[in-house]
Amino acid sequence: MKITYLGHACFMLDDGTTKVIVDPFLTGNPKATVSADEVAPDMIFVTHGHDDHLGDTVAIAKRTGAAVCCLVDMATAAIGPAGVENIVAANIGGWVPTKFGKVKFVNAIHGSGIPGCLSCGFIFEMGGKRIYHAGDTALTADMALLADENIDVALLPIGDFFTMGPKDAVKAAKMIKPALTVPMHYNTFPPIAQDPNAFAAAMSAEGLKTAIVNPGETLEV
Ligand code: NI
Ligand code: MN
Repeated sequence: MKITYLGHACFMLDDGTTKVIVDPFLTGNPKATVSADEVAPDMIFVTHGHDDHLGDTVAIAKRTGAAVCCLVDMATAAIGPAGVENIVAANIGGWVPTKFGKVKFVNAIHGSGIPGCLSCGFIFEMGGKRIYHAGDTALTADMALLADENIDVALLPIGDFFTMGPKDAVKAAKMIKPALTVPMHYNTFPPIAQDPNAFAAAMSAEGLKTAIVNPGETLEV
């Protein structure tokens, strides 16, 4: 199972058969290591409608035919009207079968950028692993429920300002109990400047493992 960080909250997940991209904000992303024209995912997952997550979703979907997987309200309000036909629209709480395995839509405490819509995170069961992409979220006690999901890799925002910061992300990891945590959503813009090494040290003090993956790098699990 390969997890490639493309910068900000964008990751490519590849089990050797299927490629999944999450929150493909590449155009205008100062940390992006590939352009929107270069990626060829089979599915696109979007946590919410803010530009730094929705990003190039529509352009990539139209060019590649990749299915866009998102919340029903977002599909109805934004993805469908943009002319995307291949949509998998589901809702928070449900497991959704996919060609790579399955995905669960989970809570994220955050605005959606689309009036009336929520924001979410995803748990991917792919390549024999469970990968949690938190989306943009505050620390929430709901994360304690994720301890039962046997998360192998948690992708957690640490940027502060728009999402939880590093201290709350450590608290989140203590609740989620993932085998490994990868920090994201930091150092893209000045308001979310953070030191990932300080985060990793704070995690280590709690007995939690962190992998700092730089944009363009791939983690194999
Ligand atoms: Ni956001
Ligand atoms: Mn964001």
